[in-house]
Amino acid sequence: MCGIVGYVGGRSALGIVVDGLRRLEYRGYDSAGVAIIEGDVLRSVKKAGKLANLEKELGEVELTGSTGIGHTRWATHGGPTDRNAHPHLSTDARVAVIHNGIIENFAHLRAELTAAGIEFASDTDSEVVAHLLQAALADGATDLTHAMRTVVARLEGAFTLLAVRAEEPGVVVGARRNSPLVVGRGVGENFLASDVSAFIEHTRDAVELGQDQVVTITADSIEITDFDGAASTGTDFHVDWDASAAEKGGYDWFMLKEIDEQPHALADTLRGRLTDSGEIMLDEVRLTDQDLRDVDKIFIVACGTSFNTGLVAKYAIEHWTRIPCEVELASEFRYRDPVLDRSTLVIVISQSGETMDTIMALRHAKGQKARVLAICNTNGSTIPRESDAVLYTRGGPEVAVASTKAFLTQLAACYLVGLHLAQVRGVKYADEVGAVLAELQATPDKVARLLSEMTPVRQLARDLSAAPTVLFIGRHVGYPVALEGALKLKELAYIHAEGFAAGELKHGPIALIDEGTPVICVVPSPRGRSILRDKIVSNIQEVRARGARTIVIAEEGDLDVAQFADDLIYVPATPTLLAPLMTAVPMQVLAAEIAATRGHDVDQPRNLAKSVTVE
Ligand code: F6R
Repeated sequence: MCGIVGYVGGRSALGIVVDGLRRLEYRGYDSAGVAIIEGDVLRSVKKAGKLANLEKELGEVELTGSTGIGHTRWATHGGPTDRNAHPHLSTDARVAVIHNGIIENFAHLRAELTAAGIEFASDTDSEVVAHLLQAALADGATDLTHAMRTVVARLEGAFTLLAVRAEEPGVVVGARRNSPLVVGRGVGENFLASDVSAFIEHTRDAVELGQDQVVTITADSIEITDFDGAASTGTDFHVDWDASAAEKGGYDWFMLKEIDEQPHALADTLRGRLTDSGEIMLDEVRLTDQDLRDVDKIFIVACGTSFNTGLVAKYAIEHWTRIPCEVELASEFRYRDPVLDRSTLVIVISQSGETMDTIMALRHAKGQKARVLAICNTNGSTIPRESDAVLYTRGGPEVAVASTKAFLTQLAACYLVGLHLAQVRGVKYADEVGAVLAELQATPDKVARLLSEMTPVRQLARDLSAAPTVLFIGRHVGYPVALEGALKLKELAYIHAEGFAAGELKHGPIALIDEGTPVICVVPSPRGRSILRDKIVSNIQEVRARGARTIVIAEEGDLDVAQFADDLIYVPATPTLLAPLMTAVPMQVLAAEIAATRGHDVDQPRNLAKSVTVE
């Protein structure tokens, strides 16, 4: 949430900062702005709306200088206007600040500064920092770094801050608490950013800052201290994907590219995690087998799409391990006093690794002595860093705000965790696990084939694009897939969409069905647990009898289901527990295509941002 970039080096900063913002725009697109130091003058340009508005504005200005910062905003305090855009300047216009997060005690600080005669130029919480830096410098702070340390001591809440000062050309100072900040280590130049995608084009050598650290970069130095000024270090890492992974590569939208990347991403999640003897190897899981044997309860905690992954995982994990498993929204978890102890395993799922609700849930779990396993896509992010163990999904960068490949790769990771737990605890043996794994290993190819058959889904999207309401129903693992389908459609197409457990329809939601209401029905395989299929077929008939247009997603070879379907989408045959890897895919395509048909920005839906770093 909010993208932040800083540059200092031998090149002109503006182009580098704006390119970085373009790669970070998924984090927020309510406004954007830059501040550049030219000689000993600080110049800033900012504009409400998407980055393109700022670029247009910049087209008429000449900004040279090789030290700069830039910001792309997701509004929290203060509407998305020019004046609320970052950077914020001190009243003497010598210091510029950009901020991601929320300064929770800003009202108190603002009142204090106002009483001291400061006039605020915006409605944001962030602006207080610019004025506090100016005050700290006036009160004797020797330089911007020193001033930053003085100021962060007064801030409560979550923040990544970057600041530049006219008197210190060639210096960018950053600070972080509860919000991400990475350094890009270049040759004769250095970078700061919310995530590596901002500078990946220039360097793949990065340093992850820790909690409560201040960093000062110049063209050839990176100095890190804690908030008290004691020398400190970050964590060095090398980014193993290149800039092209974060580019559209010929697609109109990142989301369409990411949907198409799913077979590859899924294969990467599974790769190398099975030994020759059929044992699952989760080498990043730093919990001993005995720890895993001691687990008597599992909580899965996550938000949004990652929460829907958790709902699917519950079916698989309980079935395979016989350990009771609950799934909780991270934003609710810590507020209801869940029963946790040393033998509870809390699995937190997050694509970004920076979702604040999930971070707070994780900290609560750890505070109660539970063990925490993270399933995460982003190396070195806060959630894996603070967890006892991590299983990376290896999905590669996900830029579109709506998660797609994160969902499939998280599912695969959850399946691996479930099978591993079952194996370690002796509930399932290598041959049984091997059989499921063989099915799992076959899924990337099946998803690839499914994706090659999406033309009818695109046609259907055009048909459905004017629908005021779309409902989704499923049973068993089809239920969370219905929730995920509805989430994708509402967030991208701004259509009222709801997912239901199909058995619940008759308890209320069926009243929503009107003549022609599209109902997307996830039908389980007719093989195996066919009672489940029979039940949902009854539910489909119930909605059809009330005028619904039934759009059925069913397994290839299920010919019988055709009679209940106004539209039929077949997916490759897959065992029930793994079927969400197939059934979710047409829903992703449908939502993206409906959104595009309605003329919406598929990658940057309104009011949203990726990586939600506020609670
Ligand atoms: C929906 C979506 C969000 C995220 C949620 C959690 O398409 O992307 O619902 O799933 O904000 O984000 P992570 O997984 O980064 O914790």
